[in-house]
Order: sequence, then structure tokens, then C-alpha cells
Amino acid sequence: MANGIRIENLVKTYGEGDTAVHALRGVDMHVAPGEVVGLIGPSGSGKSTLLKCLGAVIEPTSGRMTIGDQTIYDNAWKIPDLRALRRDRIGFIFQSPYLIPFLDVTDNVALLPMLAGVTNVEARARAVELLTALDVAHRAKAMPSQLSGGEQQRVAIARALVSRPPVILADEPTAPLDGERALAVVKILNDMAARYQTAIIIVTHDEKIIPTFKRLYHIRDGRTHEEGGGTETTS
Ligand SMILES: Nc1ncnc2c1ncn2[C@@H]1O[C@H](COP(=O)(O)OP(=O)(O)O)[C@@H](O)[C@H]1O
Ligand SMILES: [Mg+2]
Repeated sequence: MANGIRIENLVKTYGEGDTAVHALRGVDMHVAPGEVVGLIGPSGSGKSTLLKCLGAVIEPTSGRMTIGDQTIYDNAWKIPDLRALRRDRIGFIFQSPYLIPFLDVTDNVALLPMLAGVTNVEARARAVELLTALDVAHRAKAMPSQLSGGEQQRVAIARALVSRPPVILADEPTAPLDGERALAVVKILNDMAARYQTAIIIVTHDEKIIPTFKRLYHIRDGRTHEEGGGTETTS
């Protein structure tokens, strides 16, 4: 029950006094290991703020967050090393793959564990395993510029998975892709979530993929309500 990622009553206020912006007004969310959920909402509703809080890129003003049985924020308290948390426990996928142009595919995926102190041999072995799972192992020695857009996005997914993070945050991962490729990426993310028991949160306004989510969080004016999973609730 305490597994996956959970936030309770998360509040984020930018600034203070008359100019304060109440970006998140008490958000609750839980994503289980192996589950993929969508997060949608109009521009300015707080999606990016929520994703940054979940990814420990910015700190919430108050509220609680846990990953697995580890408490990350508990109101004024936070874990001491947010940097290590971001590196080891959270994978990020963006709209663009942001591969490093002068490293081959394998080293793009292996770089993070290498920086974290894993031996090069072990890090590359992990990279190749994931590239195989994602059906791009035949491109392992290619440079990013030699790949198609879809191949680059699969390499970016492998990079997000390589530290076996319990949580992956994806910000518009299918925006540049056509319908068929977008659905293929969502299927891959579902397969990877199940295979590695990762909790995956996808921010999107891609109409092509929204119907594929079993559970969807809507955010509006800094508050979420949930759809799917059998019952629909509003808050
Ligand atoms: N760094 C910031 N400083 C002040 N206000 C911000 C900052 N970032 C976002 N906001 C405000 O917080 C609200 C939510 O923004 P954001 O999380 O970017 O929404 P979305 O990603 O859904 O468009 C908006 O009113 C936005 O102007
Ligand atoms: Mg945004």
C-alpha cells in the first residue's frame, strides 16, 4: 500500500503576500508500482509544477510525499539528499529525447549509472539489456543523429529506466510523434512499467493517447480529480 509514489495534500505557492501564486492547492495522488497514469489539465493549471515537485526538482510549500516506504517530504521536513534521489530513484522522459550527440546509443543510456559509480562494464551491460527490451539493441553502436525519431525516443526511455527507478515522470513524451508511433510509445511504457514495476506518470494533452489510460488525473486551478479505476471522484 505504501508502495509506488504517493502525495498527500501537496501545496505549492510561488512568492508570498499579495503577489503569491497558488499553483497547487492540496493535491493527492497515488501511483502503484507497475501502473501508468495520465495527468491532464489546461495551460496554467499546475501540471509542470506538480511534475517538478514529484521529481524533486522544486520543493513543495507543504504536504507529504513518499516513494516506496521512503518519506521524501513531510511538510517542513525533507530528505537530506534530493540530488541523489533525483539521480537514483526518478527517471525523466521529455518531449525531445535530449540524447548526447557525441556518445553512442549504449553510452547515452549507460552514462547516468557510470556517473553514479557503477563500473563501465556493468553500466553498459544494463544499457544493452534495456535496449534489447526496447527493440533497439541493433542500434547500440549508432550515434543519435543516425537514428529515426522513434528510435531516439526509445533510447530516451531506456535511459530513464537504467537506474531501475521506482518512478518515471514523462512530460509530453508523444507530442512530436504521429498517431501510430505515439501509441507504440505508450504501449512500451506500459510494458516497461509492468516488467520493472515502475510507477509512471505521463503529462499529456495528446488526444491520441488519452483514451489508453486506465486512470487519469485531471488538474484544474491547482487541484486534481481522478477518473477511471471503476469510480469517478471529484474534489
Ligand atoms: N516559477 C514560478 N514563479 C511564479 N509563478 C509560477 C512559476 N511557475 C509557474 N507559475 C504559475 O503557477 C501556475 C501553474 O503553472 P504551471 O505549473 O506551469 O502550469 P501548467 O504546466 O499546467 O501550464 C500558473 O499560474 C503559473 O503562472
Ligand atoms: Mg507546463
